[in-house]
Amino acid sequence: MLEEDRLISPEILAEDMGDQSLRPLKMRDYIGQERVKENLEVFITAARERQECLDHVLLSGPPGLGKTTLATIMANEMGTMIRKTSGPAIERPGDLAAILTNLEPGEILFIDEIHRLPRTVEELMYPAMEDRVIDIVIGKGPAARTLQIDLPPFTLVGATTRPGLLSSPLRDRFGIHCRLDFYTVDELSSIIQRAASILDIDIDKDGAHLVALSSRGTPRVANRLLKRVRDYATVKGDGYINEEIARAAMKMLEIDDYGLDTVDRMILDAIIKKFGGGPVGLETLSAAVSEETDTLTDVYEPYLLKLGFIHKTPRGRIATERAYRHMGYPYDHGMTAGTLFPEEKED
Ligand code: ADE
Repeated sequence: MLEEDRLISPEILAEDMGDQSLRPLKMRDYIGQERVKENLEVFITAARERQECLDHVLLSGPPGLGKTTLATIMANEMGTMIRKTSGPAIERPGDLAAILTNLEPGEILFIDEIHRLPRTVEELMYPAMEDRVIDIVIGKGPAARTLQIDLPPFTLVGATTRPGLLSSPLRDRFGIHCRLDFYTVDELSSIIQRAASILDIDIDKDGAHLVALSSRGTPRVANRLLKRVRDYATVKGDGYINEEIARAAMKMLEIDDYGLDTVDRMILDAIIKKFGGGPVGLETLSAAVSEETDTLTDVYEPYLLKLGFIHKTPRGRIATERAYRHMGYPYDHGMTAGTLFPEEKED
């Protein structure tokens, strides 16, 4: 199945574009990520009291957890505007220079997938973040001159699914680093009930709980599943979502109790059956399941790791005993697969 077709993909799909109304605009309406919220509230309040810009913020974590939403909330709480772009969209240093010189004082610049900024652009970012200046080269050859331009005060909010790929000079220039983690089932239940009330969907607590269980810790997936379950309830029932309807809808969508879909199960199946439980290298696994290596590492693996279904070792991925049980295979690997050898630090 193509990633674009995947119902439980944490990546933004076309059908999510109408979800603006579901996004909380203020910190008090944002459910979950309690530690991150608490920290940001302190820094935002302090910056407001001093009438300064918020320090540069790096948000990291798997896709779909609300990094863009948090950045928008930061702007709302600071009473400023936000400009959104992404690492791959800024192709040349001139693109970044144009964006930075057009910022209003105090504005937030949000760069999604900041680990994908081209190197030459990234280098222009260092003095911009640290000293609020950029150096522009005018002309070519011996006549070339450098012009230093002062920038207005601004806050860079960078978002990344892969903080490890950021160069240390860039990472070190962020004063605040917030790591977002998967949401609990209770938090997702609350997010689903909030979304249901905004979208005028009738769902009871048990129905919301069941959808939450299948949402792989990710609000974007939860909101998308909610809409599909509503479709099911409209066609097969009277529109009301209870546990029974939610369960039947998940069955139709081929999503299991852990929120795993056919692709996740294909990955586990490949590790267990094709590669004897592992270890199997990323490239080999990627070829076996016909998915890009980046998609495996950014989209599928974080949740399988979180569930404890796979482990990463320097020699590759292994399926754990839990994965065997979940997939209905006998576990006979003892020391060869499910166990981490002492020298095998997870990467
Ligand atoms: N919708 C998506 N993410 C949310 C969150 N963290 N809180 C409330 N509503 C949301």
